[in-house]
Formats: sequence, structure tokens, C-alpha cells
Amino acid sequence: MSVVPILRRVCFGVGSVCLLLLAAVLLADGDGKRDSATANAIVMVQEGQRTFRFDTFGDEAFWGDQLKLHLAIEGAQFGGVGPGVSPRTALSVGLKVDADALPLNLLEQFRRGDINLDNPAVTLALLRLDAVVGVKGFFEGGTLRSIGIQCALCHSTVDNSQPELCPPSLQPNPGTGCVGRRLDGWANRDLNVGAIIALAPDLTPFTNLLGVDADTVRKVLLAWGPGKFDAELILDGKGFRPDGQTAATLIPPAFGLAGVNLHTWTGWGSIPYWNAFVANLEMHGQGRFFDPRLDNPQQFPIAAANGFANVMIDPDADRITSKLAALHVYQLSIPSPEPPPGSFDPEAAKRGEALFTGKAMCNNCHVKPLWTEPGWNLHLLAEICTDSFQADRSPDRRYRTSPLGALFTHTKGGFYHDGRFATLPDVIDHYNACFSLGLTDTERTDLVNYLLSLRF
Ligand code: HEC
Ligand code: HEC
Repeated sequence: MSVVPILRRVCFGVGSVCLLLLAAVLLADGDGKRDSATANAIVMVQEGQRTFRFDTFGDEAFWGDQLKLHLAIEGAQFGGVGPGVSPRTALSVGLKVDADALPLNLLEQFRRGDINLDNPAVTLALLRLDAVVGVKGFFEGGTLRSIGIQCALCHSTVDNSQPELCPPSLQPNPGTGCVGRRLDGWANRDLNVGAIIALAPDLTPFTNLLGVDADTVRKVLLAWGPGKFDAELILDGKGFRPDGQTAATLIPPAFGLAGVNLHTWTGWGSIPYWNAFVANLEMHGQGRFFDPRLDNPQQFPIAAANGFANVMIDPDADRITSKLAALHVYQLSIPSPEPPPGSFDPEAAKRGEALFTGKAMCNNCHVKPLWTEPGWNLHLLAEICTDSFQADRSPDRRYRTSPLGALFTHTKGGFYHDGRFATLPDVIDHYNACFSLGLTDTERTDLVNYLLSLRF
């Protein structure tokens, strides 16, 4: 018998060292012939991971050169403006420190509390070490000259191996911390993107685009709150919902996406579609983007007026398109985290499973084991008894059936695109009313336990 199935079983859930071992065995399996597809997949995954974690796609031309965020980080003391951003401030707006990027003695100092968390010079040192997840500092002779962002900013966090290193003001999403090892694909539900952008000394790119003054831009940004971002703001200019709440949506997980047809809360397109969209239009990287659906002045007045439907660039200057293939493969490969022991009751989950596929009808849309529909996975708002605001900000004017694996990784911020349901029991109460399911309290608890047991 080949060693591969055995190793695969042993490796299940163990992690990257084991995966590498498995890869090595796969490459040499059988009569020693190299399997070219496997070899290619490994190279693509490694390349895609680098892009996901470390590539700015040239977006420092926006975040640094235009918004001048690096000046706010440095503070007047180091040639910038204002008080600067201390590590305490950085951690309290949800930025994460990659413990693996820190020299051991520095990590030790962190643990002992010997680091002055109120000194912006420490933030600069962390940036120099490439230790701030999703943020890249560009230094020239010791001075921070610009700053760029990476996919990992919103779609990675760190584990809670050092819980004492979180500022007391921050209650991180369960299972995550502030200084720790990278968890790629986990939504950073602590990250206050709006508060970070609002620090920018120069908001002209947003005031020009949206046609409003800087105070209005700041009001919109500061309303987002932790774990949220508004990808549609720069398309339609809507900062708030009709009820006055922020129009921003929660950051979704970026694992468990393999086999899923349409992505984002409202099903904008495939993974490579959305990656190109985000890298070009949201991160402001340098690339080519094409989507004629944006050329719609009624639905997307700002996108239409600014030519977002067809962003052209000299192919030699394109820093995005060539990265899309490997980035796609990496995202399909990020393993789903295992629900932690004790996080659900297995007996109740078993009873919940029968409800999920039976009386509660969840499996009609969240189809086992993909947890979304195989096929065109979008729904009209009436089918899930919700309002059309966010759906109407997307081309198909529908909501996408959210894949439900590893829900424990993103309980902070609530559920549904805007977190309107604070907890899973609230979600089930909603369906109970919407579909007149007649679920009892015990059945609700069983379903919650089943939901918490799901992985991809
Ligand atoms: C500033 C935060 C932020 C950054 C940076 C960011 N994203 Fe996202 N991402 C989001 C939000 C918010 C959504 C949901 C958007 C929506 O539904 O309108 C999202 C959605 C996604 C999805 C869809 C997931 C699903 O549930 O189907 C993928 C895939 C994704 N992002 C990948 C990326 C990649 C790759 C990058 C880097 C090129 C990136 N994102 C950069 C915030 C971000
Ligand atoms: C008609 C299709 C449909 C049915 C049936 C359905 N859902 Fe959903 N579900 C959706 C859609 C669409 C969304 C996304 C809504 C949004 O983001 O506004 C969703 C979102 C969710 C979410 C939130 C996920 C997240 O990441 O925030 C949970 C949890 C959920 N459903 C559980 C259930 C359960 C439990 C049932 C059965 C009681 C069920 N759903 C039945 C379509 C459905």
C-alpha cells in the first residue's frame, strides 16, 4: 500500500510541516516519477501565499504618497505629523503583530512588558521588521517614506498564544490575539479600517472621488467600526443605510472558498474576479481591471464617472494581473480551522444535523458539505426576509448564501453581511419567523451546536 493515504490521515489537522512532508512524499510517490500537477500546485500555493501576505501591488502610491498615512504613523517627532501611532494605538485599532517576524529577544521583551507601548518609535521598528500583519513600511535611510497594504490586513489575524499582549480595551474575536502567529484567511474582526483611514493627513483622493468635504468623509469612515469595510462606497457613494446605520459590511473569511461559485456577500463574481477588483479599486494597486457592469450611472454613479469599468495600464507596469493565478490557488488551499474542543456539544450537534437537513430546511440553500448551493448561489431578499439595501449595491441585486464552515472564527461583529444578528440563536430566530418553522428552544440550541461544529 502506498504511504500517501496513511500520511494523509496522520496529517489531517496537523499543519504545515506535515503538509510539506506529504508534498515531498507525493512528489516521489509511485515509481519515483514527478507528478507535474502536484509539483505545480505546490509552487502556486507558495507563490500565492507570498502575494496574499506580502504584496502591496504598488498601492503605496495611494496609502502613502497620496493619503500620507505614513506621516500620521511617524508623528511630528520623527518627521511626520501629529502625535504618531503608538503600538498601543495600533493594537487597539485591531492591527496584529506577527510573532514569527520578531527576533526572540524582542518577543521576550514584549512578554515581560519591557516594551514601551506608548512610543511610536516602537511601531516604526515593528514596521521595519515587517511584523505588522498586512502593512508594509517603505524606508529610506531609516526614515519611513511610504506605506502600503496587503490582503492579509483584513483577511488574516494572529492566534492567542500571548493573550496578555492585547490592550485591555480590546476584546479580540475568540481564538485570536494581538501578537501571535499568522492565521491566514481568518477575517480580522478587530480591525477598524475606517478609523485607520480617517487618520490620513490628506483625504483629498476620497473628497475628490465622493464629491464631499473631508469632515463628511471622516464621518462615514468612523461609522464603520471594527471588522467592517465598505467596498461599494467608492462605486455608489452611499455612506449610510436609509436607517442611518453605516453602509459598511463585515469582513468575511477567505478560507473554505473552494467549490463555491460566487463570492462576496452579494455575489459579485468568482475569487479571481473579486481579487482583481479589490487589488485595483480598493487597495489602489497598479493593474488592469475590466467589468462593464460598473458602467451604470444609476447604480454606480461614482464608478461610472471615474472609468472603473475599464482600468487601463501599460502591461509592463501591471503589478496585479500576473499574481491572480497563484493568489487564487492559495485561497482555494487555505485549510479550514477545526472548531476547538468544547466549543460545541457533539450530542446536540447530532440532533441539530437532523433539523438542518429536515424540519429547519437550512440544507435547501446551505447545501452539505459546501454550505452554499452547488451552482448559482444567489437569492432574492424576499427569500430570506431581509431588506434590499446591500443587494441593490451589486450587479445581480441578490444575496449570496454564506458558506457556514468554521463560524467560530468570526463570531465577533455578528452574522449576515452587516452583522444585524448578534448571535447564532438570533439568526435561527430570524429563520424561525421567516419560514414559520415552529422550532422549539431546545431545537434552536441543537441547531446552534450543529452550526458551531461545521468545517469546510
Ligand atoms: C480593507 C479590507 C480588505 C482588504 C485589504 C481586502 N479585502 Fe477581501 N474583503 C473585504 C470585505 C469587506 C469583503 C466583503 C465585500 C462585499 O461583500 O462587498 C471582502 C471579500 C473578499 C472575498 C470574498 C469572500 C467570500 O466570502 O466569498 C475574497 C475572496 C477576498 N475578499 C479576497 C481578498 C484578497 C485576495 C485581497 C488582496 C488582493 C483582499 N481581499 C483585500 C475586505 C478586504
Ligand atoms: C433561501 C436560502 C436560505 C435558507 C433556506 C437558509 N439560509 Fe442561511 N443564508 C442565506 C443567505 C442568502 C445568507 C446571507 C445573508 C446576508 O448576508 O445578508 C445566509 C446567511 C446565513 C448565516 C450567516 C453567516 C455569516 O457568515 O454571517 C447563517 C449562520 C445561516 N445563514 C444559517 C442558516 C440556518 C441555520 C438555516 C436554517 C434554519 C438557514 N441559514 C437557511 C440563505 C439561506
